[in-house]
Amino acid sequence: MLVLGIESSCDETGVALYDTEAGLLAHQLHTQIAMHAQYGGVVPELASRDHIRRLTPLTLACVQEAGKTLTDIDAIAFTQGPGLGGALLAGTSFANALAFALKKPVIPVHHLEGHLLSPLLGEQKPAFPFVALLVSGGHTQFMAVKGIGDYVLLGESVDDAAGEAFDKTAKLLGLPYPGGAKLAELVRLGREGQFHFPRPMLHSADLNMSFSGLKTAVLTAVNHIKTQTGCGDVVPDQIRNDICREFQNAVVEVISHKATRALAQTGYNRLVVAGGVGANWQLRQALNALKGIETFFPPVSLCTDNGAMIAFAGAMHLTDGKAAGGFNVKPRWPLNEIVGSARNTAD
Ligand code: KG4
Ligand code: ZN
Repeated sequence: MLVLGIESSCDETGVALYDTEAGLLAHQLHTQIAMHAQYGGVVPELASRDHIRRLTPLTLACVQEAGKTLTDIDAIAFTQGPGLGGALLAGTSFANALAFALKKPVIPVHHLEGHLLSPLLGEQKPAFPFVALLVSGGHTQFMAVKGIGDYVLLGESVDDAAGEAFDKTAKLLGLPYPGGAKLAELVRLGREGQFHFPRPMLHSADLNMSFSGLKTAVLTAVNHIKTQTGCGDVVPDQIRNDICREFQNAVVEVISHKATRALAQTGYNRLVVAGGVGANWQLRQALNALKGIETFFPPVSLCTDNGAMIAFAGAMHLTDGKAAGGFNVKPRWPLNEIVGSARNTAD
């Protein structure tokens, strides 16, 4: 069975073809980062319009890359939520229109389920059950995953997501949007021990996390440096890199500590990491070093938003009777709500 996957929840248009026998055949991605960069963040209306512009050419390119034709497609999976309302509507409308024309079913997919299952697209596939760590720009969550569709939320960030903290910190250090990956690279040039930032909720008894205080600590440090050095608006490069280093140390320490606790609490010995921050080199190092734990990451190219994870999640639900027509979008949609009702589009 050949499933077309459509992702349009935020600032990436992703299209992919997944074959249940042959695996991922092709995927195409257009990132809107350059378009939003001049505004310092995603402009929802521009995002929606760009998705509309890109979806048809990307789909045609994807079908061509796979050596298929549109009529070979058996089902169309699309991101129904969570995400930006208008952006989701662009992908949803496109998926439904194409499915209507081809007389094929649509499969609404939860964006985070896509991320969570994306390590199954890697060479080394995790077996169930496992603890999933979703670390993206919008979410930082631990989930217990017993099987496809069986997800229990164990803990999450109570304020900013880790990726959001990366991006906001990068912005206040003067790095261009989206600064998360750039900040992570500057860490390599930073010196150890020049700053000390808090590890929020490190010792709380639960699996929740908090990252907004960390960003505030960076802001306080930056203001202090500016007054002390009289450097104006620009923090000197070496000091900026030192701040990046301690910021990333703090985020990675909190996440790996909570990951250890989540694994101990569930008794599972497999950890699956997904979402954009899963591309972070230091987080990968720390989680790979956990003793007695097998850690799985999606291929780096599939860490951030993409159509492949949506096609794959859709394919996993092809045969469970949950494929259904669905034109509504769900900008706010907790992942644990999908169990048993994910594709009941009447709600
Ligand atoms: O999963 P994703 O593509 O989009 C959603 O939020 O759903 O994740 C994007 C987030 C952004 O906040 C970006 O700054 C962050 O992932 N990110 C990173 C790295 N690469 C992307 N954060 C830290 N280190 C990285 N290497
Ligand atoms: Zn995402």
